Amino acid sequence: MNLFLIGFMGCGKSSQAPLLSERLGLPVMEMDREIEERAGMTIREIFERFGEEDFRMRESGLLRELGDKSYVVSCGGGLPLLLGNRRMMRESGRVIYLTAAPETILKRLERGREERPLLRGGAGLSEIRSLMESREKHYRAAADFLVATDGRSPEEIREEILSLPPFSG
Ligand code: S3P
Repeated sequence: MNLFLIGFMGCGKSSQAPLLSERLGLPVMEMDREIEERAGMTIREIFERFGEEDFRMRESGLLRELGDKSYVVSCGGGLPLLLGNRRMMRESGRVIYLTAAPETILKRLERGREERPLLRGGAGLSEIRSLMESREKHYRAAADFLVATDGRSPEEIREEILSLPPFSG
């Protein structure tokens, strides 16, 4: 069984995954990094050369491979937008939606924005807010549990996740 971490860019999936991995004894699958490694180029280059749709196909393909495996999976922020992906996640693990306010996301993304094709070109609070709003229903539809991250340390967030029924033994 996998543990999928979903949520908007900057919600803390990548920093949370290793903390959970250590405690649960499961390896980390950082989907964006795995896709980059396989493609031999960055996410940004994949978007530029082949377009977003091609990137989404790579994401779904990788997710399919995880079906019978056990990882702590840090998912790209757009993965839950496709119904097929939401189904695959629910069938092969538990899905945790890490929530954060747009203001928090803006702050956390001060660095690392250039790597994210959807936020390049000076996306501000209003762009982040409207993209988040349009995605919220998909994140909720995919999730087994919601965990708030605003104003909390990675360790506090980890403890809340580990206290949820599927992980608390
Ligand atoms: C995306 C989020 C990114 C990456 C790509 C698209 C999105 O991942 O997959 O830039 O559509 O929200 P992170 O959420 O890890 O930044």
